Amino acid sequence: MSAAAPPFRLEPLGAGHDRSAFECESERQTAYFRTVAGQHNDKSISAVYVAVEIASERIAGFYTLSMFLIDAGDLPPELKPLRLPKSGYLPAVLIGRLARDSRFAGQGIGELLVVDALFQAEQAARHAAAVAVVVDAESDAARRFWLGQEFLPLPGMKDRLILPMQAVRKRLRGPA
Ligand SMILES: CC(C)(COP(=O)(O)OP(=O)(O)OC[C@H]1O[C@@H](n2cnc3c(N)ncnc32)[C@H](O)[C@@H]1OP(=O)(O)O)[C@@H](O)C(=O)NCCC(=O)NCCS
Repeated sequence: MSAAAPPFRLEPLGAGHDRSAFECESERQTAYFRTVAGQHNDKSISAVYVAVEIASERIAGFYTLSMFLIDAGDLPPELKPLRLPKSGYLPAVLIGRLARDSRFAGQGIGELLVVDALFQAEQAARHAAAVAVVVDAESDAARRFWLGQEFLPLPGMKDRLILPMQAVRKRLRGPA
């Protein structure tokens, strides 16, 4: 007996995707996805990925990835055991945006997007090194969401959170 087909597929944003119907809880993220994401993708400002519901071809969510630099002095104390340089800038991958269409609430799409973003970030870090994945939370709710995804807050920066690449790899390996 063959396994059931997955209901969503994750892929890079392309010209064939209809972005106009996307709507999430955040007006800013909705507007970004509908009007800016395509240009950012084309100009390599952000790499945009989408989750597509296979049955309807509707976009259930998206996220963006970009190269990023983080000030070593901003790292949280939890990263001390990694013995990273204490000054200068360190390479990272930024999840600049991530949102799920409101019609797909309650289906685990947020987490699906996070896991795929971490997978892509880890793959990218194999080709151009990065010590961590960084996110900027645009609201308190978003911050709580990222804390629930094991991200650590940066001291003195309310909205910026980080997950060291070591922890990304551990999460992708799954429970031992
Ligand atoms: C944040 C967002 C992506 C979550 O998507 P979702 O599909 O509801 O998330 P999931 O159903 O996969 O939930 C995953 C986990 O996060 C938790 N979660 C979801 N939204 C949360 C919130 N606002 N605060 C705290 N936890 C939250 C869920 O309870 C779940 O936890 P569990 O595994 O312990 O049950 C979605 O609400 C959204 O698109 N919001 C608007 C844009 C936004 O704020 N993006 C965040 C980046 S700035």
